[in-house]
Amino acid sequence: MHAPLHHKDRGTGPDSGRRTLLVRWLQGLAAAAAALFLYPLLRFSGHRIPPKPRLVEVPVPLPASGVHTDHDFLLFARPDGDVLAVSRICTHLGCRVGYQQDKQYIECPCHQSRFTADGTRIAGPAEKNLPTFEVTRKEDGSGRVTAYVVHL
Ligand code: FES
Repeated sequence: MHAPLHHKDRGTGPDSGRRTLLVRWLQGLAAAAAALFLYPLLRFSGHRIPPKPRLVEVPVPLPASGVHTDHDFLLFARPDGDVLAVSRICTHLGCRVGYQQDKQYIECPCHQSRFTADGTRIAGPAEKNLPTFEVTRKEDGSGRVTAYVVHL
């Protein structure tokens, strides 16, 4: 006759609870260590961690010209309701461009590069278009636009 085999209970009892707690604590510690190790490594390796966009609010209505000049961008509101924000930093050597209302183009004061109102390069020495920024609308409860929000 064989005596029944006794085996230890697994997964129940106070020891098991302590073991689970210890494992969870060690997992948390490992995750924290990995984050502490990886963050500087990613920074060092040149991996760009994108910064949060800076939001600039432009209240409505815009000037009658339909153009708002900010420090970092030009905001154009077209008659069809389309709104566009264009960087003011010239793609040649970084001077701050301005909109020439009478000539209907953007011009750089440093070496006279020119761009259309949507940032497309017309004339050099700049070789690239001006970057554009995302624009969202801020509305009141009735759906009326109260401001444009430019995502820099
Ligand atoms: S910096 Fe704008 S044209 Fe040179």
